[in-house]
Amino acid sequence: MLITYGSSSEALAREVANQCNATLVRSKRRLFPDGEQYVQVSGDLYGEDVVLIHSFALNPDPLLVEYLLLANAIRSAGCRSLTVVIPYLAYLRQDSRFKPGEPLSAKVIASLIESPRIDRLITIDAHLHRFRSLSDLFIAPSLNLSAMPLLADYYLKNFGNLETVVVGPDAESEQWAKVVAEHLSSPYIIMEKERLGDREVTIRGGVPVKGKNVVIVDDIVSTGATLVKLMEALLGEGAGNVDALVTHALLVEDSYQKLTQAGLRNLISTDTVPTRHSKVSVAPLISKALQGLS
Ligand code: R5P
Repeated sequence: MLITYGSSSEALAREVANQCNATLVRSKRRLFPDGEQYVQVSGDLYGEDVVLIHSFALNPDPLLVEYLLLANAIRSAGCRSLTVVIPYLAYLRQDSRFKPGEPLSAKVIASLIESPRIDRLITIDAHLHRFRSLSDLFIAPSLNLSAMPLLADYYLKNFGNLETVVVGPDAESEQWAKVVAEHLSSPYIIMEKERLGDREVTIRGGVPVKGKNVVIVDDIVSTGATLVKLMEALLGEGAGNVDALVTHALLVEDSYQKLTQAGLRNLISTDTVPTRHSKVSVAPLISKALQGLS
């Protein structure tokens, strides 16, 4: 197995190659003067099982084009199989035509991802809501791994406390909150979120958290609007320490500042999007899945 990477996931790919005892194949990317991308994958890929690791954060559109170019380069070099690992899979939140004239972005992007004839796709905590499973989006075999057990273990080791309540901000977060609650042997509560705009949400629901430590669980933090509103509700009910376990910390603009101002103690996330909050690496998850293929 050969492992290569796109510009967003070099460190992660290096670690996965290390853990799988696989050869890391270097790739490079540069921009032409007009802004078009150029990529090149080194080495002889003919007849090889190649894994491409490339996350779609933080600027998904150029990263998607880079992915398409890399995957084409690998395919046309005559590899035996191409497995793509997209740790953060963007565009899944537009999983419906919410208003007339909108595209079904999740489907559009899924078909682009499949266009280089991939053999399988692996991702982490995909935002599956109206599409219940990756197989509703992809024809190729796909695997949706979850970092939630690893995030919960990190929390337990570092901040573990008996009086903990797990809270998810909206219906789709229940799939992740449930797993964390099981790991922490804690109860969980799911709130009701309504999105009013890109940076505006309302949160409703009962929160019996007085004096308790709270762990917020979600797949993505982007503008921070969801977590800030949730913090207001929790602290308004007298919650103790509030920490958040979030797989993909996109943290756009000044969102982290907003979270700390709202009273969040720790944001704990993974390296699907490498930030200073990436306390947990998804490399062991990916390595185990890849080793299971051979
Ligand atoms: C959407 O339902 C997701 O699960 C997250 O809750 C959402 O993407 C967070 O976005 P923001 O930080 O902008 O509120």
